[in-house]
Amino acid sequence: MSQSIAAAAIAAAPEYVKNAKLKEWVGQIAALTEPDQVVWCDGSEEEYDRLCAEMVEAGMLIKLNPEKRKNSYLAWSDPSDVARVEDRTFICSAKKEDAGPTNNWEDPAKMRKTLNELFQGCMHGRTLYVIPFSMGPLGSPIAHIGVELSDSPYVVTNMRTMTRMGKAVYDVLGTDGAFVPCVHTVGAPLGKGEKDSRWPCNPDTKYIVHYPETREIWSYGSGYGGNALLGKKCFALRIASTMARDEGWLAEHMLILGVESPAGEKTYVAAAFPSACGKTNFAMLIPPKSFDGWKIYTVGDDIAWIKPRQDADGVTRFYAINPEAGYFGVAPGTSEKTNFNAMATLKENIIFTNVALTDDGDVWWEGMSKEAPAHLVDWQGKDWTPEIAKETGRKAAHPNARFTAPAAQCPSIDPNWEDPAGVPISAFIFGGRRATTVPLVYQAFNWNFGVYMAATLGSETTAAAFGAQGVVRRDPFAMLPFCGYHMGDYFNHWLKMGDAVDATPGIFCVNWFRLNEEGQFMWPGFGENMRVLKWIVDRVRGRVAATENALGWMPQYEDIDWTGSDVTKEEFDALVKIDPAAWASELEGHKEWFDKMGDRLPKALDLKRELFSLSLGK
Ligand code: OXD
Ligand code: MN
Repeated sequence: MSQSIAAAAIAAAPEYVKNAKLKEWVGQIAALTEPDQVVWCDGSEEEYDRLCAEMVEAGMLIKLNPEKRKNSYLAWSDPSDVARVEDRTFICSAKKEDAGPTNNWEDPAKMRKTLNELFQGCMHGRTLYVIPFSMGPLGSPIAHIGVELSDSPYVVTNMRTMTRMGKAVYDVLGTDGAFVPCVHTVGAPLGKGEKDSRWPCNPDTKYIVHYPETREIWSYGSGYGGNALLGKKCFALRIASTMARDEGWLAEHMLILGVESPAGEKTYVAAAFPSACGKTNFAMLIPPKSFDGWKIYTVGDDIAWIKPRQDADGVTRFYAINPEAGYFGVAPGTSEKTNFNAMATLKENIIFTNVALTDDGDVWWEGMSKEAPAHLVDWQGKDWTPEIAKETGRKAAHPNARFTAPAAQCPSIDPNWEDPAGVPISAFIFGGRRATTVPLVYQAFNWNFGVYMAATLGSETTAAAFGAQGVVRRDPFAMLPFCGYHMGDYFNHWLKMGDAVDATPGIFCVNWFRLNEEGQFMWPGFGENMRVLKWIVDRVRGRVAATENALGWMPQYEDIDWTGSDVTKEEFDALVKIDPAAWASELEGHKEWFDKMGDRLPKALDLKRELFSLSLGK
């Protein structure tokens, strides 16, 4: 039986699929999972439209009013399946210590046994889709190929937007090209004649599993986001970070943007912020009116793959690509005021997930407009009115509701965003959500100090009372849930990568989230972040002053362009104030965090902490 399933799966491959290893693997997985049929996706528009129509027919998608949102759909997930499941995410390296203290580890042999049992017959009654995709422009020397096998048509359509998916990938793959195998199931086999649910998933059992040594991904039980669209966090960060370590490059949780001056000079930066710190907003920033002639161009909003390359002038620089082709952004809070470009991106060809449906067939979420519509159907399919919300506190959209949008539709998309060579990176920016302690902006003294700052990046989990610190959750490089190996080794890799280029990017830290005594944000954020970004660009171009202090190089009030702003010198001084007592306790926190890394913590970082401590005492 399983042999005939495998043979049928392979026989279903179109003649342009020439990769023998791929065919053999598809046959094996089909034999294990026993789908009703195997479909080799070609990534065409016709295929996308057909799958969407089938999902509408099955009740999995709602087609939105084309006059409001052309060619767009809405999905509502099972309430048990609404976000990435970090506690069910595993790094199964051969040795436990290679996964490190920040990852869940399981013995790979044991995990394979568990998954083999779970995957046995898990696609009964379903179709296995073969989804070939490239992370990065097809054929780019920075890009890599993956193939996802999934029983979810929702995954197929989302992968088509989020990656370069389809037939052309097979040409790049050729007869013996390498690919990262990704196996995904919603974990909900159907009995004969059994009616499918609106959002099939396994509410009880979920596994998101990575085998870093063999570069494989297996995902069971969830149909949502990063758990199921395996090109994103699983491949482009967890597996790619191990590839990058082995091969001498960087796979990072970073947006990439280009700053263009009125003279047409372009400077690219990559920036890491933990989840929910406004990365998409920063990537699509619109400068304040007074910045006439300045423009921000978006290359990517979430992930950057960065490789060193020697240019014709003999200088080696970091070049970055956005491995994705779409945005899987958080909808709530997105409005024309907070992110005009994102709203413009969302006009057509969108898959929305877990937002509310308006009476005229459009979508709404908290924060989209000041006033909520008088009536909605919420993300759980229930009637919703502002009155009901007041009484029950029920949200119309789930707080982690998402849009899946083609990047090319973004008005601020960079003309070079698909350049296979990537864009040259002049600065790295790191920012957490800190109510206290961390100033608005500073530049690290040098690469190693920058690595130190990024390694100790964190966000405060509770609102801090004035003068006291909240609980800081360290999120080094914003990679805590996404690094596929030991964090200590990752820090070491970053230290080493400083030597991989001649044109070392400047490293900057920012904090948009400092609070005043009344608990209000001290910095306006959004477009106003341009003022800080301009200082950063001017720093790396060597044309603006900075003052040295214990943390690094910092601007004085006069060093920032305040045209059209009402931020006063006093307010600015409060935003960049360094409180020695707060920093002394911050450094204690760094020590506790570093102690967790054990003997894999690079000595250079411990030394930096001591140096830092001494200079604070001065
Ligand atoms: C994301 C995240 O969804 O970082 O991008 O959580
Ligand atoms: Mn992210």
